[in-house]
Amino acid sequence: MITFRKHERKDIPYRVQWFNNPEVNRYLRGTFEEKTSLSKEKEWFSKYEQTKNKKFFTICQNEIPIGIIGISHINKTRKSADIFIAIGENNSRGKGIGKTAMLWIMNYGCKDLKLQKLTLSVMKDNIPAVRLYKSLGFQIKDEVKKKNKKNKDYSSLLFMLIKKEKFILDNNQNPKQDKFQPSLIPYQDMLHDQQY
Ligand SMILES: CC(C)(COP(=O)(O)OP(=O)(O)OC[C@H]1O[C@@H](n2cnc3c(N)ncnc32)[C@H](O)[C@@H]1OP(=O)(O)O)[C@@H](O)C(=O)NCCC(=O)NCCS
Repeated sequence: MITFRKHERKDIPYRVQWFNNPEVNRYLRGTFEEKTSLSKEKEWFSKYEQTKNKKFFTICQNEIPIGIIGISHINKTRKSADIFIAIGENNSRGKGIGKTAMLWIMNYGCKDLKLQKLTLSVMKDNIPAVRLYKSLGFQIKDEVKKKNKKNKDYSSLLFMLIKKEKFILDNNQNPKQDKFQPSLIPYQDMLHDQQY
């Protein structure tokens, strides 16, 4: 069973493990090009606790933490925010958890935070992520070339966007998403265990 709980200080060691995992790290532009550490993540968490425009959650599979999902740059005036997701555990990827988690955070953003517009950035060669976002209705709004600090190569970064109407519409009408329709994972039930 997949549940979402408030991201907590006790998750710091998982953050270090997940963000140092090459399978995760290779697709996270900028931030994690260098290895992270317990002290860097403690510092991040202290800042996070002081920030009001970010909400992160720990994704759990049968109560075991497997990843992180969150919303940042929450702008109440523009009713917009950015989404971030990483399934940290290798054997939890490719099983539909990313999609379930994205639907959950998109519901949270649109319904609880009353956002109208959700954005994200993703490296073009991150095939699973790009496929996931497109299948949820995100559209590419921009593409920029970015120099990779490690190998000096250029990679493309895609900026993607979905508007609330499109998300709601897609999730009511897209038969491809039958497995993941919010109606099968009732929103209120999903929220039941969470104490954010
Ligand atoms: C991107 C990520 C969140 C996707 O989560 P996931 O649980 O592995 O993905 P799902 O099993 O829900 O599948 C989502 C879609 O990706 C596709 N997909 C999953 N793994 C894939 C793979 N290895 N190759 C190609 N497509 C893949 C699935 O077919 C599915 O598409 P569909 O809905 O059209 O069938 C996850 O792989 C991850 O955390 N990666 C590392 C960190 C990262 O890249 N984060 C995103 C930063 S922008």
